[in-house]
Amino acid sequence: AAPAISTAAIDTKPIMNSTVTSIDLEDGPLFPASLISPEIISVLPTDYTIRPILRSDFNRGYLDVLRVLTTVGDISEEAWNKRFDWIRSRNDEYYLLVVCDGEDRVVGTGSLIVERKFIHSLGMVGHIEDIAVEKNQQGKKLGLRIIQALDYVAAQVGCYKSILDCSEANEGFYVKCGFKRAGLEMAHYY
Ligand code: ACO
Repeated sequence: AAPAISTAAIDTKPIMNSTVTSIDLEDGPLFPASLISPEIISVLPTDYTIRPILRSDFNRGYLDVLRVLTTVGDISEEAWNKRFDWIRSRNDEYYLLVVCDGEDRVVGTGSLIVERKFIHSLGMVGHIEDIAVEKNQQGKKLGLRIIQALDYVAAQVGCYKSILDCSEANEGFYVKCGFKRAGLEMAHYY
């Protein structure tokens, strides 16, 4: 797992050397890069990469990519950093990854959230969430690679299955990724 960084200490400690900012100190990957399938990296388009999300992805267009999926809102860098640090503090639970193009812009993302259960002998279930590929990058198999990469993480960390909710319009995509219809989604909005 990524080294636990005490954000409380960093937030309250005065920065003596102005060239070392708290962002520099905190910009490690959310989870170990060794959990990214080498096979998936090798089949990406030339110059594209897939890697764990970084705190600095705020400045690489991460939120704009999510806007192809749904409303995101107006999120300041300060609010992003706070949420990012909270996610990082939930060690071994959140696995957010990004695809970057040759210019180091985020063009795709996906998340795996690992739920720890009592049933099935303390089984672990992966929840696949917030899959998005920038509009003009769709159709290059990046969505497929994101799902395959998340599947790999889920298997590596010990999940016995991964599940997701999607619209009817996206069913064909997930079938191509190896998923099959199972059950029915229900929602109660607050
Ligand atoms: N219906 C049927 N088949 C599809 C669809 C679809 N909506 N989208 C892609 N496919 C097919 C492709 O044709 C391709 O098939 P092929 O192997 O025969 O050529 C295969 O699925 C893989 O497609 P990719 O190129 O990897 O798809 P892409 O990179 O465009 O990503 C995605 C698909 C993520 C759905 C993208 O279109 C997107 O970001 N859409 C908007 C946001 C969204 O709806 N996200 C999913 C929300 S559900 C969730 O987050 C759990």
